[in-house]
Amino acid sequence: GPSPVKVTVTGAAGQIGYALLFRIASGAMLGPDTPVRLSLLEITPALKAAEGTAMELDDCAFPLLAGIDITDDARSAFDGTSVALLVGARPRTAGMERGDLLEANGGIFKPQGEAINAGAADDVRILVVGNPANTNALIARTHAPDVPADRWTAMMRLDHNRALTQVARRLDAPVADITRMTVWGNHSATQYPDVSNARVAGTPVRDRVDQEWLESTFIPTVAKRGAAIIDARGASSAASAANAAIDHVHDWVLGTRDGDWVSAGIVSDGSYGIPEGLVAGFPVTSSGGSFQVVQGLEIDDFSRRRIDASVAELADEQAAIRSLGLI
Ligand code: NAI
Repeated sequence: GPSPVKVTVTGAAGQIGYALLFRIASGAMLGPDTPVRLSLLEITPALKAAEGTAMELDDCAFPLLAGIDITDDARSAFDGTSVALLVGARPRTAGMERGDLLEANGGIFKPQGEAINAGAADDVRILVVGNPANTNALIARTHAPDVPADRWTAMMRLDHNRALTQVARRLDAPVADITRMTVWGNHSATQYPDVSNARVAGTPVRDRVDQEWLESTFIPTVAKRGAAIIDARGASSAASAANAAIDHVHDWVLGTRDGDWVSAGIVSDGSYGIPEGLVAGFPVTSSGGSFQVVQGLEIDDFSRRRIDASVAELADEQAAIRSLGLI
């Protein structure tokens, strides 16, 4: 059969890692015909826990799982990799300023970017999940000058999926009937979930929801969903984040549905007035293994203000990492 695709997961011993690895190994990410070789990157103290997860992966006897490597060395973790899921990150702890957070993450994403540049496969595709995801992607990419811009993405798909479900509930429609959702900007509280072009079973969502619901319920519910999950579960979103990562890579590699699109953080080419080089949420389709921005959408004044506000936050983060010498 076909030779295995190397998939690297950082932060493999964390919560998302635990929800993610089994689905990758089962074929949910790259499809039922593609064997995978997993490469687990962790910090030294978490290697033993990663080994425990690898034992459980063995115990699943997944037919598609060709092997598992575990390491604390970024160079070997990314050597020859075709799919890199950058999940491990430094979380914000009490009293931590934004500069401290960015600096700590710079210490992770700069060497990982360098390792990807040095050894990843020519077809490498990277998804950054670890927060602040968009800006961590920007840091890593800056240190990987040989990897084309279109291989770098940050995860907006959890926000996208959350938005689909909120609209489906409101309209009492099956979630599969909701298409053309967009989440613009930063994966943060400023994100803009946008139903302007969304459809329910082919008809405009906008005809069936009012502006009041959008502004005072829908947008804040989606944007603050992460905090609501922490409140309810006592831990941050993990299985839903892993699911979103699976969806993101699946659609990137295997293509988006006809007539629909998804949201992904991609390197801006300047479309929709979003400054070139920022990693921002856009509406995208994929065919032939690369994301394309959905062009030609009309942006009304409300949407413009919301997009601009989130993009301003991304530009601030970019300025901050620049002044810290991280890019
Ligand atoms: P976690 O704390 O359970 O796991 C993180 C793992 O990363 C730990 O095992 C840690 O040892 C590891 N790690 C830390 N530094 C590393 C390094 N330099 N190399 C390799 N591994 C390293 O966290 P969890 O819940 O799995 O979340 C991971 C990240 O994903 C967090 O930053 C979280 O904020 C983010 N996240 C992003 C979402 C999105 O939609 N973009 C959604 C949910 C979470």
